[in-house]
Amino acid sequence: MNALQTHAGLAARFPRLEDIPPEYRLPGPLHQRTILIGGQLREWAGPAHTVLSPVRVRDPDGSLRPFELGSYPITTAAESREALAAAVAAYASGTGLWPTMSVDQRIAHVQDFTCRLCEKRELIVKLIMWEIGKSAVDSAKEFDRTVDYIRQTIDALKELDNNNSRFQVAEGTIAQIRRAPLGVVLCMGPYNYPLNETFTTLIPALIMGNVVLFKPPRFGTLLFAPILEAFRDAFPTGVVNTVYGRGEEVVPPLMASGQVNVLALIGSSRVADKLKKLHPKTNRLRAVLGLDAKNAAIILADADLDLAVRECVLGSLSFNGQRCTALKTIMVHRSVAEAFLARFCAAIAALRMGMPWEEGVFITPLPDSNKPAYLAGCLADAQAKGATIRNADGGQSCESLFVPAVVYPVDETMKLYREEQFGPVVPVVPFDDIGTALCYVESSDYGQQVSIFGSDPDTIATLVDPLVNQVCRVNINCQCQRGPDIFPFTGRKDSAEGTLSVSDALRAFSIRTMIAAKSTAASKALLDEIVLGHKSAFINTRFIF
Ligand code: G3H
Repeated sequence: MNALQTHAGLAARFPRLEDIPPEYRLPGPLHQRTILIGGQLREWAGPAHTVLSPVRVRDPDGSLRPFELGSYPITTAAESREALAAAVAAYASGTGLWPTMSVDQRIAHVQDFTCRLCEKRELIVKLIMWEIGKSAVDSAKEFDRTVDYIRQTIDALKELDNNNSRFQVAEGTIAQIRRAPLGVVLCMGPYNYPLNETFTTLIPALIMGNVVLFKPPRFGTLLFAPILEAFRDAFPTGVVNTVYGRGEEVVPPLMASGQVNVLALIGSSRVADKLKKLHPKTNRLRAVLGLDAKNAAIILADADLDLAVRECVLGSLSFNGQRCTALKTIMVHRSVAEAFLARFCAAIAALRMGMPWEEGVFITPLPDSNKPAYLAGCLADAQAKGATIRNADGGQSCESLFVPAVVYPVDETMKLYREEQFGPVVPVVPFDDIGTALCYVESSDYGQQVSIFGSDPDTIATLVDPLVNQVCRVNINCQCQRGPDIFPFTGRKDSAEGTLSVSDALRAFSIRTMIAAKSTAASKALLDEIVLGHKSAFINTRFIF
């Protein structure tokens, strides 16, 4: 970010209409007017929400105006109740077509869906880019990672099911143990990974035989419009249903009905807490949650600073810091704090800020229009309490563009010390004694991940042992992140409930259930007949290739 980041300099980074490269333009405004309920794409004639891109367009007079992408239905509690009724009917207390279907048939439906999804890749990738301001490269990565996730899920289910395709005999009892669905799953993903994180719950939930109600995130909603037909055509009636509209209006009735069996939410712990409490029979509700986090980097005195800087730039500012796994506090040993800050600020100055389609762009417009004012408030609070912004132009903003700010020294009196900023502001906290850094992690409300940077094996080992009991992933000399997706992704305290790796997600959305019979000649003959006659989807020894 070498050019002067004045308001005018930032405004000039937004394009004129004619500057937008043709290959990144959308075919036209997308006015979605259908909702998927009970296998029907119903026309919606009620009110619609206008979708504005975080990308502003510069008019000939220099003024900036929001770029309109289209609109989607604002449905009401009545439609969400109808969607719920359709899901409940499709599940039919576990007797429906989908929950009783054999695993290989369900896999075939998901494969069919994946082919239909891939046909829409270009449009979906563009919509991710335009709706949430994610770079074109990262938007494409999000799509491809999602398709990989689905394929890995299919493989993991084959392995799981094949391992269960055998009988066990113990203490005179013959058993076959498999995993069965839980019922109606309400899936809600976040706006920072609208496709990927919605699908990392929706797909495992579906493939395990559950039926789904899904509500798209508040930004990144239109990108689901091209997928609705695929949902309708690839799955039996009522297996996937949509809920659009204002979350606070359309979601509480679903939870209060007591008919939602699993709440799958990637979002805030405040919302999760409220929704869970609305369920009249909480013991019947399973929650699979990915929530708030305030992951810290701990930079020790003997850390390789170049490596720490590289990882901390990626960790704190990839997608403008809008990742649940982002490094949201950097704790640095006071003896190397100034050296770290100098290199860190220099690295940030070299990041390219601009529009999502620009080559090499790193900092892009923010989708939440309230975010720049919130971040400015955090900066003002820290400055009033003695911190300074250490990088040139840090905190300057124009509409949705916000120059990353490195704030130092941050202490416990400042908002940035504890609040999850979820944006391009990096609080740096000095420490003299490693106990202070450990205490920061221990006393946090969150417990997702931490990164430690250092080179002494004794110190690293001494830190790892208490930290693994505070968080669920300790990254050594690398940033925090979710992937690879086959590794467990979870957190403690207010950061998560349940675990979401490819294989763990299959477990999260299912329950072990079994048949048992006395090990007698009669039972053996009976089971033999069921297996050899292919009479049951559950009792079988089939191998899915
Ligand atoms: O927002 C949370 C995402 O799951 C983070 O995924 O670490 O791969 O960017 P990531």
